[in-house]
Amino acid sequence: MNNRRILVTSALPYANGSIHLGHLVEYIQTDVWTRFQKMCGHQCIYVCADDAHGTPIMIRAQQEGITPEELIAKTKQEHEQDFADFHVNFDNFHSTHSNENRHFATSMFKTLQSNGYISTKTVTDLFDPSEKVFLPDRFVRGTCPKCKAEDQYGDNCEVCGATYTPSDLINPRSALSGVEPVKKENLHYFFKLSTLEPALKEWTQSGSLQPEIANKISEWFEDGLQDWDISRDAPYFGFEIPDAPGKYFYVWLDAPIGYMASFKNYCDRTGEDFDSFWKPNSDAELYHFIGKDIAYFHTLFWPATLMGSGWRTPTSVYCHGFLTVNGQKMSKSRGTFIKARTYLNHLQPEYLRYYFAAKLNDGVSDIDLNLEDFQQRVNSDVVGKLVNIASRCAGFIYKKFDAKLTSEFIQEGTDALNLASEKNSEIKNLYEARKYSEAMRTIMSLADIANQVIDQYKPWERIKDDANQTEVHQVCSFGLNIFRLLIGYLKPVMPELAKKSEAFLNTEICWDDLASGKPFAEGHQINKFKPLITRIEKEAVDKMIEETKQDAAPKASDPISDEITFDDFAKLDLRVARIAKATHVEGADKLLQLTLDLGEPSGGLQKNVFAGIKSAYNPADLEGKLVVMVANLAPRKMRFGLSEGMVLAASGTDSGLYIIHPDNGATPGMRVK
Ligand code: 2FM
Ligand code: ZN
Repeated sequence: MNNRRILVTSALPYANGSIHLGHLVEYIQTDVWTRFQKMCGHQCIYVCADDAHGTPIMIRAQQEGITPEELIAKTKQEHEQDFADFHVNFDNFHSTHSNENRHFATSMFKTLQSNGYISTKTVTDLFDPSEKVFLPDRFVRGTCPKCKAEDQYGDNCEVCGATYTPSDLINPRSALSGVEPVKKENLHYFFKLSTLEPALKEWTQSGSLQPEIANKISEWFEDGLQDWDISRDAPYFGFEIPDAPGKYFYVWLDAPIGYMASFKNYCDRTGEDFDSFWKPNSDAELYHFIGKDIAYFHTLFWPATLMGSGWRTPTSVYCHGFLTVNGQKMSKSRGTFIKARTYLNHLQPEYLRYYFAAKLNDGVSDIDLNLEDFQQRVNSDVVGKLVNIASRCAGFIYKKFDAKLTSEFIQEGTDALNLASEKNSEIKNLYEARKYSEAMRTIMSLADIANQVIDQYKPWERIKDDANQTEVHQVCSFGLNIFRLLIGYLKPVMPELAKKSEAFLNTEICWDDLASGKPFAEGHQINKFKPLITRIEKEAVDKMIEETKQDAAPKASDPISDEITFDDFAKLDLRVARIAKATHVEGADKLLQLTLDLGEPSGGLQKNVFAGIKSAYNPADLEGKLVVMVANLAPRKMRFGLSEGMVLAASGTDSGLYIIHPDNGATPGMRVK
């Protein structure tokens, strides 16, 4: 186990959005692991990069009116600052839009090609006849073939969740020109995955993957490996495929190659030897930490890319689950889609590092950030148990014993210290196996024992009697010795707390010292104790949620839609209507069925409307209310029946939904202009 050489990666975040707490589960999990390895004296290099290619990045840049290059440069800066402030300590953070990545993507593709793993096939794509370009999925919009919701992307429906291809859309439109795309034959490049099936089977069954993931992979094998479409057409932000003008590598081809590119960049900076980590039969270890949603890419596509182009395969791929907040999916309207920066505006990064560590293990189940439990757990464990040991002992040592420790302890102290150092290898194994939650439990149970010993001797009472001075010296010296051990065990999780504690204890802690179990030497001098960490206040958590909610609210700066003429507007027949009846729709997640009266007295003209307002309203609360509806909208056949209009409501991206009501005095049937 000595002299291990370990290369570690976390998944590359997309360069079109901010880092949020969901991302941080993984970066914190990986950072703890790499800090632990470094603390044990191994060579451990942690690299990452921004995932800078693909259509969503292009669209985002267009929306912001900047070039993709400007967007990714801006995002990289933001990401790096967020990571640094969460103490995520990359040895290198690069970009997939880099020379190194272009070099590896191109050369690996060429090798795959000359080894016979690449084929070309003609497929039918949608083509914009006015712009004369093939349209990526996200550049086609139209009506969902399943639920008939309008204006959906070409790859999936945001209303019913169905996935499909752009040519399945009803009434498809090009997002570039608005014209109807035509079907056109197009040449695509494919990676013949099935050719590598035996080698992939061997690699995935070599026992280094988590059992849940290994099972999933067996299912994928049973379904059969399809050839992987690795080309996309211009316009695309990425690398052009060699000798194929206008064809680009699909973002997922060059994204994992970005791991190599970032490491190459590190090697060029530091003189480290690239090949000795990446050549086949390398004795270095290679681990990818990822979320379970991208296991397919990392356990099939990526090892296949490596095998087929003559490089080593990963030692293992470690998957984790998703983050929920207060037991639910993160949501902008609930204020739980919390960005890294928003968190940092209100709370210390190490609270979250500790809380995630206390929840994480080696499995793939989701982890929950319950905000009440977060506050309670961090306050009770870190402040109440651990730091409490130091704050109870430091003052007496400093004031009464010249800031010097004795290496003689009361018997219970010696016993507790022995127990704490005996736990060393157990805690070490737990970190190695990513069972952080068990490690945290073990550390905190040792803190409980330390506090019991101090409680038993009550130095704050004994100090009053001159006859007890030696005993007080021994109890408090024990306290600071065990504090040193426990802080050492926690150092990968709370590096800042450890740094402050090291300054106070006048020492530096590495794993070997912890393993030796040797206490501080007789007369070791400490520094004055300053508070090491403060409690989490509920107000800070509330403010963070509030800021998140405000952040999600639509802004005046949101771009205004394309101009329309007065005639366009005049086509709309907007009417005041009374909700006569509102009911749930069986089988529909988002819809309520409304019966709208357009004339008084009721019994006049009625319209049936399916409205996507279930998340915001109870049917019973709606009956009798006046609303504004688009009365002349062509009826739409939906899965649940015919919808004969639309009700006006205000909404942001995910920040709630508010029906528009006419002012007092309006009556059903009135025109709205
Ligand atoms: O899912 C994602 O967020 C991707 N950007 C992860 C890429 S990881 C690696 F393959 F580059
Ligand atoms: Zn749909």
